[in-house]
Amino acid sequence: MRFSESFIQRVRDSSDIVKIVGEYVQLKRRGRNYLGLCPFHNEKTPSFNVSPETGLYHCFGCSAGGNVFTFIMEIENLNFTEAVQYLAEKAGIPVEYEGSDREQQARRQAQRRLSELLELVGKYYSHLLKSAPEASIAREYIRRRGISAAAATSFGLGFAKADWDDLITVFQSRGYSDSELVKAGLVLPRKNGNGYYDRFRERLIFPIKDHQGRIVAFAGRKLTDAAPGPKYLNSPETEIFTKGAHLYGLDLAKAYLRKGEPAIITEGYMDVISLHSAGFQTAVASMGTALTVEQARLLSRFCSQVLIAYDGDAAGTTATWRGLETLAGHGLEVKVIVLPAGQDPDSFIRTEGAEAFRKAMAEALPLTDYKLSKTITGFNLERHDERVKAARAVLPILAELNGAVAREAYLNVTAGMIGISVGALRRELDYYEAKLRNVSQGKRNIFPQTRNNITATGQDCSIVESQTRPLSEVAMLKLLLAKPELLGRQFTTAELKFFTDPVIKQIIEAMLESASTDQLDPAAVVDRLAEAEAKKLLTDLIFSKELAGFVENPHDCMAKVRKHYFQEELKDLTHKLINIRNTGQVAEIKQLTLNYINLYQEARQTFGERGDGRWPS
Ligand code: CTP
Ligand code: MN
Repeated sequence: MRFSESFIQRVRDSSDIVKIVGEYVQLKRRGRNYLGLCPFHNEKTPSFNVSPETGLYHCFGCSAGGNVFTFIMEIENLNFTEAVQYLAEKAGIPVEYEGSDREQQARRQAQRRLSELLELVGKYYSHLLKSAPEASIAREYIRRRGISAAAATSFGLGFAKADWDDLITVFQSRGYSDSELVKAGLVLPRKNGNGYYDRFRERLIFPIKDHQGRIVAFAGRKLTDAAPGPKYLNSPETEIFTKGAHLYGLDLAKAYLRKGEPAIITEGYMDVISLHSAGFQTAVASMGTALTVEQARLLSRFCSQVLIAYDGDAAGTTATWRGLETLAGHGLEVKVIVLPAGQDPDSFIRTEGAEAFRKAMAEALPLTDYKLSKTITGFNLERHDERVKAARAVLPILAELNGAVAREAYLNVTAGMIGISVGALRRELDYYEAKLRNVSQGKRNIFPQTRNNITATGQDCSIVESQTRPLSEVAMLKLLLAKPELLGRQFTTAELKFFTDPVIKQIIEAMLESASTDQLDPAAVVDRLAEAEAKKLLTDLIFSKELAGFVENPHDCMAKVRKHYFQEELKDLTHKLINIRNTGQVAEIKQLTLNYINLYQEARQTFGERGDGRWPS
């Protein structure tokens, strides 16, 4: 599913970059631009520039740069599609998709209608909770559990009546069909095949929202232990709801995560509501299941540190364990808050208070410590043989540690915990690692040695390239930015092949593509750039002072680019020939020689009789 080009442009044009950035950064007018403190790195003197004219921003401190879309993507942690949707909504522009794929468009349409329905249902349920006489039981329940009115409102809590056909009747009268209500997971067909009934009855309703705050599903909690059915009833999977894809409370937690606070991952709805109410607004819930890979990935977009606050009993299960590994695997720094058995964050805060929770947070165990202590408590350390087993069991955890200091520290602590000497544990670890190395060495030999070498040199190359770009190519790029009227006229796509720097080439290609009219819209060019590196370089040049006064003869400038290209290519071919000449690879040598001759001739032709490589005038 793609947006149409024209739609993206409309959204970009209707989004005032100064106003949008101004919602996050205090901007002051400075000449033609606006200046403020960069939101993407810490600084005391402002170096973050916004240009209403070009629709671009650039920071001279950290070289972040781009247009309204990249700004919203960065600051709100959205992908491109989400950012476009977000700004379209803000500007009041109805979303349009590329017309090519009709089926997809119809599906989108259905999803949108489903989404609207869920919003309406959410409003209906919360309206009932506030004012329906039948909801007094739910209002009483909320009061008893200590949920404030403010929390009930911000989480959009609601109430479903006890009737079997309340929702169905109300929404049929609003023009929704039975099948739509079924697809939304709100009603079910009667067993006797005769009509439908409401899924949620006499329950406290928790809307489940995606990270942008849109309702995707509902959960309903029963209000008495005696009531029929499970404690929580959840929406089934629908077109817009996949289990394990969302985190409850993330829509509200997002703003606090952005400030750099660690996320607190809990299991349940009530935990999140209690924690937020007590001032811990980075709490989210995995909603009962072990954390999925999708949830970990989602969270890793918003924060780098997480605290796990599962209830005292759940914290030891293998499902929890797997979830923690998943988080760590996504580069998150994981710590575990250990709560007393039988307590979850909600009950803990109610009985012990917010301060006690803050203390538990401060004492959270780093993942390694937690794993070690969980592993060791599984053994009866009174017995010799169990101590030996415990020592073996901790080896994989210790072997994962990087750095001599951490290793030494953990060796000491662990030996102490198990009750054996540090020396003995160290010997066991050395032995274990030697065995590991043998295994992996054996594996490595299966692959040709060159594999590693190629990646290693490849990386070196790109680093060097990014630091030193060919001056002639940079100059040409500057010139095209200063005089976009050259694009598509004197300067055509035929010139692209002479650019050796991939980033510069990418930028110029994007400029050629978007310069259909006389003018160049730099903000539109940004959207065509895939790499952050390219966006940085482009905005860096556009905001640099020298550009305005950049004059150079375009013919001379391009001649230098070509000359550089031929020099580099010929040099490269020469190296290849030198390397290969004594190997007896006759066919390859022939081919390379041929390439060399062709290129040499092309160079001579390009530089013509005049020998200057200029455009024919
Ligand atoms: N859960 C569920 N279905 C159930 C039970 C639990 O979906 N039948 C999910 C819910 O997301 C719930 C979470 O698992 O919030 C944790 O379950 P549990 O610890 O049993 O409930 P609490 O969140 O503690 O809820 P409460 O305090 O209301 O008992
Ligand atoms: Mn609970």
